[in-house]
Amino acid sequence: MGAERIDKLLANTGRFSRKEVKELIRRRQVSVNGALVLRPETKVEPEGAVLRVAGEEIPCGGFTYLMLNKPAGVLTATEDRRQTTVLDLLPPELRRRKLAPVGRLDKDTEGLLLLTNDGVMAHRLLSPNYHVDKVYLAETEGTVDAADVAAFAAGLTLGDGTLCQPAGLEAVGENLCLVTLREGKFHQVKRMLAQRGKPVRRLKRLAMGPLKLDESLEPGAFRPLDGPEIAALTRCCGLPEG
Ligand code: URA
Repeated sequence: MGAERIDKLLANTGRFSRKEVKELIRRRQVSVNGALVLRPETKVEPEGAVLRVAGEEIPCGGFTYLMLNKPAGVLTATEDRRQTTVLDLLPPELRRRKLAPVGRLDKDTEGLLLLTNDGVMAHRLLSPNYHVDKVYLAETEGTVDAADVAAFAAGLTLGDGTLCQPAGLEAVGENLCLVTLREGKFHQVKRMLAQRGKPVRRLKRLAMGPLKLDESLEPGAFRPLDGPEIAALTRCCGLPEG
């Protein structure tokens, strides 16, 4: 990546609008490698640069990472002629950044959805080779029992012959369970629980590897990942940090 304007780099993180960056620079809150930035047009080579806003280090390796609390009723797609997609929930300046959802949640599934334009990370987070656990909270008809837990642990075979890798299952209340998967087959949680006679009524993703849903996000709200969250995801899929 070549040198970029500082206002563009900071706006690309999803944390500030260009207007906010200008104001922060005017208030002398922005520095690069320890030197104050005085003009929004200042060009910065992002590789290895340390950018700070009001003293806080802002990772800006050029990629954008957003956490969305996906509401039910919205499609996990980048565009659709008729239905609202997760990209439609973002403001125009973020929609322009070629962000894509990492994995697919069904239209009626809620919860953690990562949106990024870092294709390598997205691929690794979804690949079974990198063993990234996805954790779901499912509300079911009936409560899962020890036989269901054992069947999940052994690896279920679905009605159509699809083999599932061993998965975690834990009852956490009446009609409530946590499911932990390392793969993402079509409707997998719903099909696995249905196979055990416990159809899903409501499904929410809580975590993806080290990334946990920020429960302070209302359904439909999003926020950029912070530095430690990006670093943890980078580590968990074996990518070099920095
Ligand atoms: N499994 C499902 O059945 N649906 C989802 O949306 C995600 C995992």
